[in-house]
Amino acid sequence: MKGRRKGFIVIIMLTVALLVLSACGQGKPVEQQSGEKTASAALPPAPPIEKVKPLIQKGGCASCHTIPGIEGATAQVGPSFCDPAEEVQGGEVDVEFLRESILEPDKEIAKGFSAGIMPKNFGDIFTDEEIDTLVAFIANLKCE
Ligand code: HEC
Repeated sequence: MKGRRKGFIVIIMLTVALLVLSACGQGKPVEQQSGEKTASAALPPAPPIEKVKPLIQKGGCASCHTIPGIEGATAQVGPSFCDPAEEVQGGEVDVEFLRESILEPDKEIAKGFSAGIMPKNFGDIFTDEEIDTLVAFIANLKCE
């Protein structure tokens, strides 16, 4: 009789332990997943350069910016695209900042440069997807 009761208690304790463990187990991966999500959301995959070139051309970005990978893009009216690329890769800003820099250039002015020079119509001439492509391109630039 005593032995059976003991066994019963052991089973209950095991069940409780299992429940607690599975609850913890469920909690952890969710945390990890969301952590990974923010990390991968920070850097979208680099688009193929052939997709980027016509957009750079259309926006005339090269007439003001130095852009690695784009032939003849050595202008210095605005910052080199290496500047925001390094900021994103260093975690100082997120890709949303890049988006904003292109759509609302006067909202935050890059250090050492002036407001009112970069065109403000990129939200009109580019689709959302094209802006995403430009953002992903800049975010992945590898500069020394
Ligand atoms: C007529 C000149 C001009 C053109 C054209 C231009 N920009 Fe700019 N851009 C600037 C200037 C000047 C700044 C710095 C002032 C500021 O932050 O708005 C700037 C800033 C930026 C920044 C923020 C950089 C940083 O370090 O924070 C990004 C990103 C950017 N431009 C992307 C683009 C893209 C993409 C295009 C083309 C679709 C483009 N620009 C076209 C002049 C230009």
